[in-house]
Amino acid sequence: MSTQKIATNALHAGHDVTKNGGTRAVPIYQTTSYVFNDSNHAANLFSLKELGFIYTRLNNPTNQILQDRLAAIEGGIGAVVFASGTAAISTGLLTLLKAGDHIVASSSLYGGTYNLLNVTLPRLGITTTFVDASNPDNFRTAVQENTRAFFVESLGNPKLDVLDLDAISTEAKAAKVPFIVDNTVATPALLNPIKQGADIVIHSLTKYIGGQGNSLGGAIIDAGTFDWSNGKFPEFTEPSAGYHGLKYYETLGAASYTFKLILEGLRDFGGALSPTNAFNIIQGLETLSVRIKQHSQNALEIAKWLEQQEEVAWVNYPGLESSAYKSLADKYLPNGQSGIVTFGAKGGFEAAKTIADETKLFSLLANIGDTKSLIIHPSSTTHQQLNEEQQKSTGVTTDLIRLSVGIEDVDDLKADLKAAFAKISK
Ligand SMILES: Cc1ncc(COP(=O)(O)O)c(C=O)c1O
Repeated sequence: MSTQKIATNALHAGHDVTKNGGTRAVPIYQTTSYVFNDSNHAANLFSLKELGFIYTRLNNPTNQILQDRLAAIEGGIGAVVFASGTAAISTGLLTLLKAGDHIVASSSLYGGTYNLLNVTLPRLGITTTFVDASNPDNFRTAVQENTRAFFVESLGNPKLDVLDLDAISTEAKAAKVPFIVDNTVATPALLNPIKQGADIVIHSLTKYIGGQGNSLGGAIIDAGTFDWSNGKFPEFTEPSAGYHGLKYYETLGAASYTFKLILEGLRDFGGALSPTNAFNIIQGLETLSVRIKQHSQNALEIAKWLEQQEEVAWVNYPGLESSAYKSLADKYLPNGQSGIVTFGAKGGFEAAKTIADETKLFSLLANIGDTKSLIIHPSSTTHQQLNEEQQKSTGVTTDLIRLSVGIEDVDDLKADLKAAFAKISK
């Protein structure tokens, strides 16, 4: 495992220039498939007697560099990349779970993930109990005999609740289930969930890691810490009908989940990342630790400024003294709290919509983590499929505006918001 820091790993990990023609930049291997030496070589690759590239749905040399880099940065033993964060989450869960299984999840989740757990997975017989994650005991209370995973976001989108990962991971260990942490908003530059007891870390690479708003991507990083032989996961210990009798845990040990994600998850669900998007995301990752400092600094300054504006009812940012999550932020996010700020418009739903419509530098769109500043009114957009009660449990109120604060000059951002506030009808 790498002992180097993120700023170094983000630039170098996974890329051996001697094996890639001396290329200083990571090359794009834009190919679907790989020529076998002969049929025996092909047979060995398929039976895992030899490791190598077969088909880009399973792996690709550019993607492999991104995977190795992410594993080094998050402190995992392996990583697998996907076409989007959502593909990572759905494939990650479906590789672990089967009909009859149960998840305990924080209710403060990205709306798409909430829908997957609340509507789509139950259709397949996989149910979820959502809990208020601010009290880690709630995870214990929700555990059932068929519980097979805990799922949380380290910094919830858009509630911005900082979770007590140490305490929740203790509950996951007691329940003998893997602790899965979506670390998209916090980013590995600010928080490494594996150090706090996570077994599996998920990222939407579309956000801060890619960072420029040009490529979708997702990743799963496997800590290699979970004991798949504890009796709750027979798919890891019994011969796999899906991979000619392979006993994952006996053959692959700590790397069982990483391999299962590739051999069954990517093979069967097909959510592979394109090598060109992997390249774009690698360009972003190289500067993540520099960018996230500026995002965090700008976001804190905007949050403090918003607290003083008469059009603003409340402000939520974990770095604010007024935040309910300040002490958890001090513990888990001491070097910055990332770039998302939410606030309530005093005029409610209509005023919030007006502000989102009237900003010019802040682009009205459904994304976060771009270098450019973004704004959205979740109640009428990303969370409109949820009823008001469900919206509330994910942290969305009708007056809430979410900012993804970019790395522009912060004075220009304040002026843009000020001009939009002036358009609210009094
Ligand atoms: C915390 C979080 N996880 C996962 C996702 C899904 O990622 P993607 O849009 O890359 O599918 C998002 C998207 O907004 C997100 O905010």
